[in-house]
Amino acid sequence: MHRKILITVFAFLFITACSKETAEVDNYDPARDYFTFANTGAFVTEHLALNLDVDFEAEELRGFAILSMRRLDPDATEIVLDTRDLAIASAAVLTTAGSEPAEYRFGEPHKTLGTPLFVTLPPGTNEQFDLVLEYKTSPESTALQWLPPELTAGGKHPMVFSQSQAVHARSWVPLQDTPALRITYEATVRTPESLLAVMSANNDPLTPRTGEYHFDMPQPIPSYLLAIAVGNFYFAPLGKETGIYTEPELLDASVYEFADTQAMLELAEEKFGPYDWGRYDLLVLPPSFPFGGMENPRLSFITPSLLAGDRSLVSVIAHELAHSWSGNLVTNATWRDGWLNEGMTSYLESRLMEVIYNVKRVDEERVLMYRELLLDLETVPETMQALAPRLDDTTSEDFQGGIHYSKGQLFLEFLENAFGRETFDAFLESYFQEFAFGTITTERFLDYLEVNLLSQEGAPVSREQVEQWTYNPGLPDNAIIPESENLNIAADLAKSWSDGETALVEISVADWSPQATIHFINSLSAELSHEKLAELDAGWNLSDTQNAEIGRAWFIQVATRRHLGAYEPLEAHLNRYGRGRLIAPVYRALAENGEDLELAREMFERARDAYHPITVGWIASGLEEQD
Ligand code: BES
Ligand code: ZN
Repeated sequence: MHRKILITVFAFLFITACSKETAEVDNYDPARDYFTFANTGAFVTEHLALNLDVDFEAEELRGFAILSMRRLDPDATEIVLDTRDLAIASAAVLTTAGSEPAEYRFGEPHKTLGTPLFVTLPPGTNEQFDLVLEYKTSPESTALQWLPPELTAGGKHPMVFSQSQAVHARSWVPLQDTPALRITYEATVRTPESLLAVMSANNDPLTPRTGEYHFDMPQPIPSYLLAIAVGNFYFAPLGKETGIYTEPELLDASVYEFADTQAMLELAEEKFGPYDWGRYDLLVLPPSFPFGGMENPRLSFITPSLLAGDRSLVSVIAHELAHSWSGNLVTNATWRDGWLNEGMTSYLESRLMEVIYNVKRVDEERVLMYRELLLDLETVPETMQALAPRLDDTTSEDFQGGIHYSKGQLFLEFLENAFGRETFDAFLESYFQEFAFGTITTERFLDYLEVNLLSQEGAPVSREQVEQWTYNPGLPDNAIIPESENLNIAADLAKSWSDGETALVEISVADWSPQATIHFINSLSAELSHEKLAELDAGWNLSDTQNAEIGRAWFIQVATRRHLGAYEPLEAHLNRYGRGRLIAPVYRALAENGEDLELAREMFERARDAYHPITVGWIASGLEEQD
């Protein structure tokens, strides 16, 4: 049994860290995107026009993609586009002289990258031209989940939604699928009449439900931010520029839970500079949405597992909103620089949460995150522990994991602490301005940091020190380790209760934050009888918790400790959520407890039909690679 591989897969959640074949080690180019076939040195896309029919019966999107392209290399005649599971019906080039058919062929499929599409330009094609592709998606499109009515909150209408990051846009649009390029887009989308289509574009809350919808996205975005959803969505406003789209059944709960969104937006503008995107809305999806949130511009896609009823999980909203600056405005040049999206965003998220809520609450979240980082550092191979590791197509594209998020955040907190909040805030605001609507590599970031902060007289931090963070494994000694008094108390009580020194009724858990409860669960002694676990479960109602993160922490323990008494609710948890973070570590704990690999597989077989293709991919690869 290849335990190591499994551990790694789940530890990163999204990485299949087979760093084995870095065959071309010496030619490694950190600025190159290893996750695209597109020949972006020869051609670039500037605008995309989509015209699509949404066919729920066939489970396909069908229509046209028109790529407005520019040839950079005058000798180039062949365009290479990214696709995955797409069928192309025709290709033509529009020039001032009219429409000319273009020859095309597919190349060899690649497991991670999909299939390159080669299009030969007819002779005489201008430097600027439109490439018209008639195409359709396959029901297997990795970006799209086609949900039957039973998997929606209302149970009456079907739904479809996309998840393009990192390399899945190519499974619903043929394009140059790399964060290194930006495009504007427009779209016409035809749907069954009763349903509403929304996109990462100018959604108008007052759009009549006609079954034909038009979108414009005038700000240039990278392809991974292309997004679409069609369902029985309705809108409710939150504030002047903010609101919620979701099924009517979830509208009230969502409005309550995310009521602070407008305040978050206003605060973010004050701190990081103008919000350049127009409206900021949330789309609350069914539980199968594979992430906590996805920062699709103007319309973050959100998991309903945040609806805890007490606003305790809304740091995810602050996170997705903050991406409007770090990620959407200034974009990682390649996935290897993902920490500049995710670490920077996690840092900004905390800064927003400190003001909207309070420092104590954020410190609790920081400690939980730090604990997760320590676990990652135990399992992730050293070669993958740098903020900017070597990443190529032998590693998985879905590289993110704890390292980018938590080590990235700790790095920025280290810089903030060294230079002082005021200086660092000014630096960040100028950084967003300088690179707005552009891309950023780790090296350019370090150069910018050097010019603006490190080279100041008496600067407290050297280039060598920051390079330790970006290029070395582990955590540098100068990291500031988060502390939370509340969580320390919870951990102490976990020990004393485990040891029989404190009775459960003496612990006033009703006054605790969910974060403290999670920390208590994570801090239980290794040796604990099933009677004690059952007592805790009954006393705190853990197996029935409405808080998805408490459920996650609890069922990881249930699986790790083989607490069979709670296996039924454990399976209910795996069926209730499709968000990778909530379920992958539970499957992993089952698979690794020495007894339950087969059971994990059986539970997965029973649950998988309800999961998004991306989630199915994660869990399946984790469980398959066991033997
Ligand atoms: N952009 C990410 C989701 C993502 C990352 C998709 C990499 C595909 C590849 C999103 O902003 C995110 O980070 N979501 C987190 C929430 C967060 C608060 C840590 C999640 O889904 O848990
Ligand atoms: Zn993020």
